[in-house]
Amino acid sequence: MIVLGSDHGGLELKEEIKSLLGEMGLPCEDLGTNGSESVDYPEFGERVARRVSEGGAEKGILVCGTGIGMSIVANKIPGIRAALVTDTFMARMAKEHNNANILVLGGRVLEISLAREMVRTWLEATFEGGRHQGRLDKIAALEDGCCK
Ligand code: RB5
Repeated sequence: MIVLGSDHGGLELKEEIKSLLGEMGLPCEDLGTNGSESVDYPEFGERVARRVSEGGAEKGILVCGTGIGMSIVANKIPGIRAALVTDTFMARMAKEHNNANILVLGGRVLEISLAREMVRTWLEATFEGGRHQGRLDKIAALEDGCCK
């Protein structure tokens, strides 16, 4: 299950991503926003990040105007590794090296076709593990209040 969230600045791109996931045959749930009125991105970012953090979804995709606000919010939630990406190399690395469980995109700064390609790339990539797992373990240790 993939959960989606956006603010008004990311609404249009979120709808495109929903279509893409449908084309790929991947189940998804849209946690809002669903209208064009101005809303606060922390609300929707938290909603998606908590769902992933609590195990109710394997992955999440968040979109705001630039992606910056959503990435700041999502990375406050324990267990979340949210990656704001701007090209397909970053999208692939976000999975292969960082095992990002949330992909973040900027709805006001990306061409739709590139955004779709980045989502597909992230979803189809595989975490490499090995030395990268050790690095993720160090990130997890930060959440426990220690860093060795
Ligand atoms: C909303 O105007 C805008 O600030 C938001 O979509 C996002 O870009 C924040 O980082």
